[in-house]
Amino acid sequence: MKGEFSFDVLIIGSGGAGLTLALKLAGTKTRVAVLSKFALTAGSTYYAQGGISAVFDADDSLESHLNDTLDSGAGLCDEEIVKLTVNHGKESIDWLREQGVMFTEEQTLSGETKLHLNREGGHSHRRVVHTADATGKAVSLSLIERAQENVNIELFENHNIIDLITENNRCVGAYVFNSQQQKVETFAAKIIVLASGGASKAYLYSTNPQSSTGDGMAVAWRAGCRVSNLEFMQFHPTCLYHPAGHSFLISEAVRGEGGRLILPDGSTFMQNFDERGELAPRDIVARAIDHEMKKRGLECVYLDISHKPAPFIREHFPNIYQQCLAFDIDITQQPIPVVPAAHYTCGGVLTDSFARTDIENLYAVGEVACTGLHGANRMASNSLLECLVFATRASEDIKQKLPLLTMPKNLPAWDESQVSDSDEEVVVSHNWNELRHFMWDYVGIVRTDKRLHRAMNRVELLKKEIAEYYAHFRVTSDLLELRNLVIVAELIIRCAQQRKESRGLHYTLDYPNLDTSQPAQNTVLTPDNFVNS
Ligand code: FAD
Ligand code: SIN
Repeated sequence: MKGEFSFDVLIIGSGGAGLTLALKLAGTKTRVAVLSKFALTAGSTYYAQGGISAVFDADDSLESHLNDTLDSGAGLCDEEIVKLTVNHGKESIDWLREQGVMFTEEQTLSGETKLHLNREGGHSHRRVVHTADATGKAVSLSLIERAQENVNIELFENHNIIDLITENNRCVGAYVFNSQQQKVETFAAKIIVLASGGASKAYLYSTNPQSSTGDGMAVAWRAGCRVSNLEFMQFHPTCLYHPAGHSFLISEAVRGEGGRLILPDGSTFMQNFDERGELAPRDIVARAIDHEMKKRGLECVYLDISHKPAPFIREHFPNIYQQCLAFDIDITQQPIPVVPAAHYTCGGVLTDSFARTDIENLYAVGEVACTGLHGANRMASNSLLECLVFATRASEDIKQKLPLLTMPKNLPAWDESQVSDSDEEVVVSHNWNELRHFMWDYVGIVRTDKRLHRAMNRVELLKKEIAEYYAHFRVTSDLLELRNLVIVAELIIRCAQQRKESRGLHYTLDYPNLDTSQPAQNTVLTPDNFVNS
């Protein structure tokens, strides 16, 4: 039938997670479709700067990577999942090199070539493999090139998932909005994988690209999956503060190479918050900056690396140097104005160690998932590693399962008989802005019960308005994103309301301490029944 497609595996997302999985499956002649909401490079992966954590240094160890991750995660990481992940670091990097990714190297004193390793917050060793300060671009472009060469992979740009199609708790396909042709298409597949990234665009200021609207979390929730730990939204401490800067990230690797956070008078402050100073885990640094800005009424603080030799700065941070220079900030001469911004979604669709969700034949990999790796605060550069490791785990499980499955047939057609073209698109743009503003003001770095309650009241209103609009008008990409964002906002707030303590990235003035009266709890929400597990 016209507008209908069938594939063995349908992957929603062309970032590090989605393309790794596609490449690992397609070698077996499995027919794979990969959808991207916009261009293939649209996800966060393309923008990653610092790199990918893996143990390569002779003085480092898997145990140290494990302990640093557990420490950053503030008591909520799943230790078995962390072990599994860090144990696969080296082979993940080797695989990327086989795909053509060129990582930055250095010469040893004995004249050998080895990988250069960055240092970032929370890591007790140099452990971050990188391609200068544009690691994500190198990874993304290589994976896209390999996927484009592969005859078993079909890539669909400008294809936006609307909803999953399920039958008796089994996923059989998806309705997808083709935004170029402005029509809805039906995809049938034996296996469907969500690899659609995070939800940081729920906030006014975010380092993330437009694609990060939590679509995968919302469609999984509507289909009946549990989600977990969404209160742990990570704010990156150092995002460029400039009216035209579009929240450009200043990598943590700048602090790893000695960058100091300073106030307008030039004094440092991180030593007052943590003995690790600028290299404390991200939650601590972001909160310290937020505290100083609020206490002193500042619009930003500054990150200063200008004490390092100019050639060193230009060689290590060519992308950041050029981007800042375009805004008349010469980072070899002057400090960089920075503020925190929403950066990473630690929670997500609950998965097991093979990336399986609550629904049969539905998987979730990458930032959309909550595997248990990050706990209450993700350690820097552990997320690209998670994408690689769990895409590989999912591929192993899917390869075993596929021969037992048949292609779903006769999926119900998308029904547009009750809707017309929108008459007032301003409803969508207004609600988009309102949502991102109140999430920033009320559900940000520092929370209170009252702020969460205010935010929830607004969510309730928006939900009604959006549901009504969705019922009457044809879908557009903006409407689909808004419909998903309001659900994700609700889930973030509900998770935050359930946690009656401060832990990792969740800090509330009403419960400022860790709850030590019981073992650390994950927050788990089920679609028809909110519970704490
Ligand atoms: P993404 O790379 O975000 O890809 C999501 C894909 O899903 C895209 O193709 C998108 O188009 C598609 N998609 C989304 N919604 C839909 C939909 N409705 N329908 C169809 N397709 C959809 N992590 C590190 O480990 N190291 C770093 O150095 C690092 N630096 C970072 C720097 C920046 C500026 C940012 C924003 C993040 C950084 N991170 C870093 C985090 C890391 O980049 C992400 O967590 C990771 O890339 C997520 O990969 P992913 O494949 O899960 O999702
Ligand atoms: C950065 O380079 O600071 C980002 C690293 C990350 O988010 O893991």
